[in-house]
Amino acid sequence: MKTTPWNRKDLLGIQDLSPAEINFILDTATAFKQVGQRTIKKVPSLRGKTMVNLFVEPSTRTRTSFELAAKRLSADVINIDTSASSLVKGETLKDTALNLQALKADIITIRHSAAGAPHFLASRLKASVVNAGDGAHEHPTQALLDAFTIWEKKGKIAGLRVTILGDILYSRVARSNIWLLTKLGAHVTLAGPSTLVPRTFEQLGCRVTHNIDDALDGADVINLLRIQHERQRRSAFPSIGEYTAVFGLNKERFARTKSDALIMHPGPINRGVEIDSEIADCERSVILEQVTNGLAVRMAALFLCAGGA
Ligand code: CP
Repeated sequence: MKTTPWNRKDLLGIQDLSPAEINFILDTATAFKQVGQRTIKKVPSLRGKTMVNLFVEPSTRTRTSFELAAKRLSADVINIDTSASSLVKGETLKDTALNLQALKADIITIRHSAAGAPHFLASRLKASVVNAGDGAHEHPTQALLDAFTIWEKKGKIAGLRVTILGDILYSRVARSNIWLLTKLGAHVTLAGPSTLVPRTFEQLGCRVTHNIDDALDGADVINLLRIQHERQRRSAFPSIGEYTAVFGLNKERFARTKSDALIMHPGPINRGVEIDSEIADCERSVILEQVTNGLAVRMAALFLCAGGA
């Protein structure tokens, strides 16, 4: 009998996952992607289960796709508007989560500005906890949907040259991508201003460069990140205009990239800052396909954490 490599209650980050676990989520997502291509885009896998979306930070893509993923799996879904919740009256995150569990929530999907918030809850709850982004720490389902998209387009991950360009220091997307891509054998280059791409990242098995031409040269995948102003106490460069002039992906730089290099971005995009609008919308851009794949990957994450494996 085939055994599953997935025995976790929670999905908290990529750092702790084995390559076998990562591949198992991606394989499960492949099966769920087919559900989205049917006339009736629903399966009964989580019927009778309840998922709560607890987003204490803003989100468009992640929150919506977790809700849709749970609905496609036939779960009941509750979205907490934290600005209208008792968190604003001083209730703690732990008490909030315990109350949701008392209402028989089976899965809590949490986004929080504090790194470690999902881990804090996971160790205190019987319910499954799925990390939808914690501070500058991890955004595991974003890295999984990025990997799913690369694998779909390139047929492999091992051996690819992936450049992540922008604000690496404050980016949870960058950290989760670094863990995932290096575990699966990709060669990762990190690029941007030295204030946002410190050399210490080399310890994670990446190449660091502060020269954009060097970063783009020979890359199979170019993943652009926005500047995370909300996490920076002071600006890491003189002005947005200067950042764009030195590190923005414009038409001239794009023309020098490999003719089949994928252009990726987790969103939200700041058009005209880290990426020219025409490049965001060009044929090689897979930015909206990333969003579509996020649905299948999040169905897989919810299904596996809720015991589906
Ligand atoms: N990529 C991402 O996390 O987008 P949202 O902040 O809109 O969820």
